[in-house]
Amino acid sequence: MFVAKTERVEEGTADGVLCARAATQKREQKSRFKSRDKANFSKEDDLKVLAWSFLAGNVSIWKFKLTVCALRCRQHPVTTGPHAKPFGHSNPKAAGLEDLACDTGRSNVKKKAVRTYTVSAKYYDAAYAAKKDLVDLPFYVELAKKYGGPVLEIGCGTGRVLLPIVREGVEIHGADQSPAMLRVLKKRLKSESREVRSKVRLFQGDMRTVRLKKKYSLVIMPFRPLQHMHTLKDQIAALTSAAAHLNKGGVFAFDVFLPKFEGIAAAIGQKRLELEWNDPEDATKVVRRYYRMESWDKINQTFAGTFRFEIHQGEKLLAEETETLRMTYYLYPQLRALFLLADLEAVKEYGSFAKTPLDDTAEQMVFLVRKRKSGR
Ligand SMILES: C[S@@+](CC[C@H](N)C(=O)[O-])C[C@H]1O[C@@H](n2cnc3c(N)ncnc32)[C@H](O)[C@@H]1O
Repeated sequence: MFVAKTERVEEGTADGVLCARAATQKREQKSRFKSRDKANFSKEDDLKVLAWSFLAGNVSIWKFKLTVCALRCRQHPVTTGPHAKPFGHSNPKAAGLEDLACDTGRSNVKKKAVRTYTVSAKYYDAAYAAKKDLVDLPFYVELAKKYGGPVLEIGCGTGRVLLPIVREGVEIHGADQSPAMLRVLKKRLKSESREVRSKVRLFQGDMRTVRLKKKYSLVIMPFRPLQHMHTLKDQIAALTSAAAHLNKGGVFAFDVFLPKFEGIAAAIGQKRLELEWNDPEDATKVVRRYYRMESWDKINQTFAGTFRFEIHQGEKLLAEETETLRMTYYLYPQLRALFLLADLEAVKEYGSFAKTPLDDTAEQMVFLVRKRKSGR
């Protein structure tokens, strides 16, 4: 409509420039929609282009309706939504995983490709090997041994926890949204024994919607993946996904940090050196990870900032890469309310991985929850 109106205006005037621009845009939209490379376009991209083309009068109402229907039926090429796909195998049968992948139908959770950890994946293992206060491994390994396999780890990343569990002989299935993190894990698995490899199954899936055709005695979500859920809807969806994979008597274990508000306030605007390690491929190089917190949203309980990875050789800065990270923090009563909303109840709660009480001295909030037995 806007286009039709401006088309009648003379070129050379301000309106004429608008007119020329609108006509160019119209031509671009038309050719973009026609010639788009379907493989590289997300469903959201396609819908946006289609909507613009319709508004610009390039697509009839019937073509618009039909294409919307077709797009709604098409799977997103990157995120899996409710359709978790086995990772790393073009032929799922070859991977022997098709029996676990399950289509639960539509979900009301907006499926958006969040390409998190694309940069961090490269540095993840070396960085956290250097983080001496990250002491959650014995806790999760002990749980896995107690409950037995298969265990499901949601947000398994590069296998920091998954690998020590499977090396103890416990079968484990891992799901993660980040292809970059899963690629690292797959590479690491190649140097494991055949027996270890045979006990691992991987899926690329979003924790809000992933559904595998299997129930587990133990589902784990170590090292704060739940802090990547930034809305109430997403938080409930993620907890509901974990609950959906529990068998009768099954337990879901996860941890988040207990927020320290003075620390958050003091960190805003500061570039802080968090971790430093030798480059595993070249010991003459040192990698430094900095984090600069940029904003704090007190209403939605999130903070956002940028990781900066710097590679140094002596005094010289050789390279640097950055990646943004937004995190949610939770308060204890909020988590208890979320459990109710996801039909879960706490079985155990700890203030550390050494199982100290969850009190004012706690650094972490570590929970074991199960499906609620009693009605609300
Ligand atoms: C801090 S890492 C923890 C990885 C691993 N559990 C560990 O302990 O090292 C958080 C992980 O959550 C994953 N993640 C973030 N958002 C996700 C989502 N919506 N669905 C599934 N995984 C997600 C990230 O890709 C990342 O691998």
